[in-house]
Amino acid sequence: MSKIPYLEGKGKNTTLYVDGKPFVALSGEIHNSSSSSLEYMDNVVWPALRPLNMNCVIMPVYWECVEPEEGVFDFTLVDGLIDQARRENMRIVFLWFGLWKNGMSTYVPGWVKNDSKKYFRVRKGGSQAASARLLPESGSSAVIDCISPLCVAAYEADARAYRALMRHIREYDSEQNTVIVMQVENEIGVLGSSRDYSDYANSVFYSEIPPEVSAEYGVKGNWAEAFGIDADEYFMAYHYAKAIEHIVKEGKEEYPLPMYVNAWLEQFPEITGNYPSGGPIAKMMRLWRLVAPSVDFYAPDIYVDNYRDVCDEYATDGNPLFIPEVRSTEDATPFLFYAIGQHNALCFAPFGIEDLFASSSGANAEVLQMLNIDPASMADRKSPAGPMLAKAYQMISNMSEVIRDAHKNGKIHAFLEQNESGKIIELEKYYIKVTYTGAGGSFFMRQPQKQPGTPVAGGFIIELSPDEFVVVGVSSRIEVLPKLDDGCAVGLERKEEGQYIDNKWVRGRILNGDEGYIHILGSFPSALKLKMFRYE
Ligand code: DGJ
Repeated sequence: MSKIPYLEGKGKNTTLYVDGKPFVALSGEIHNSSSSSLEYMDNVVWPALRPLNMNCVIMPVYWECVEPEEGVFDFTLVDGLIDQARRENMRIVFLWFGLWKNGMSTYVPGWVKNDSKKYFRVRKGGSQAASARLLPESGSSAVIDCISPLCVAAYEADARAYRALMRHIREYDSEQNTVIVMQVENEIGVLGSSRDYSDYANSVFYSEIPPEVSAEYGVKGNWAEAFGIDADEYFMAYHYAKAIEHIVKEGKEEYPLPMYVNAWLEQFPEITGNYPSGGPIAKMMRLWRLVAPSVDFYAPDIYVDNYRDVCDEYATDGNPLFIPEVRSTEDATPFLFYAIGQHNALCFAPFGIEDLFASSSGANAEVLQMLNIDPASMADRKSPAGPMLAKAYQMISNMSEVIRDAHKNGKIHAFLEQNESGKIIELEKYYIKVTYTGAGGSFFMRQPQKQPGTPVAGGFIIELSPDEFVVVGVSSRIEVLPKLDDGCAVGLERKEEGQYIDNKWVRGRILNGDEGYIHILGSFPSALKLKMFRYE
């Protein structure tokens, strides 16, 4: 067996090793149903991914397909997906669509769906606002199509299937490491109620909280007494985390790939149950870590406008940044630059990635609205998003060692527009003034509305030496200002356009004269190398 993919380090210093070498997943997540058909993958998905310069694809495997009859496993689809990925020279992050997918239990096999006594579901209750969220086919019933995390029989059944899957992946793939990371479930939590209000759940809710929770938070009593207004969410988070700990442990006993849990973020109106109650949103991560120590990290699905804040929030307390879903518009490229430049992200993956270069049916606007996602978050092939991302992936993969060294030495500085006009970055010898040009495409006059097809500004600067740096990004104007107050002026010794190839800078034109006065990164990803001097 070759060395299994593993993580080393903490937080932003975490490295994912694949075949013993550092690996950054320049990825994309395909639509939910795409990997249920090998033919569809061959006809629609793989051709659409080829132009993107990805090295990894994030795709679901479904409990309903893996264990169609209780105890009878079928891995034909899993093997086919692995074979196809090998042919495409691509790694895989599998999403285990098991008991929970977007707060519901829609991917459980029929034999689980139909046995609602044994595999009992969540009962509605709690705040009006949360229960007002009507999901299709839920009608006005008091039950939600979400199997309760308090149902031990359900999470044990899921864990048996997941264990069988991990055993199979070990047998089929551990020589080749095609599958590198596993996501366990998808955006878990209850939608439409702040917690399970069944009689059984109520009796647990009004019992003493577990001792480890009491010790961690210095509170006691039942859940309501211990956590007051947030009690429902803490209660659900505890039970989801307990279930996941069991599932992950079972899987890791067979094949301990890195495993993570992703989150549907808290968003307006911030009432738990309007977003999935109990999932690993930032404020619940402490409890999740306590109860589910076998989970390697938590990952945000980012469709909200404050992308930068979310990255910063998830890259704390030793959690590495791994983005399994993000909007796939032209903003994906500056988002990538920020994730890599600021947080040394392990993975970046726009959702619905096959739409960028293909004729697939794409995301349904009504479904997106139901999921609280702005339909404008999804690009189609008419937008410049695909070619931009393809170029950005090519640039990043060709400078991965340069980026890694710069992170080690604290010589990389990122920027990303989020409603402000720019950023001042302090380097060893200079200040860099970055002015964002994304909103109006003009640095002379900012216009209030971002033009469709124009990315927000974002990128990073790497200091190669005190006088020389490379700037990578989009929609920005760069000015170099003196830092020392010694009367010296700053001049440009040399400016080159170019890009890294195999971690070596390869220049294009030397930009001087008319092209030397101002330093602009346009709306298509590019890089400049600047060498400065000081004179008096
Ligand atoms: C977030 C989910 O995690 C994905 O599976 C998908 O449903 C997207 N939202 C939107 O289509």
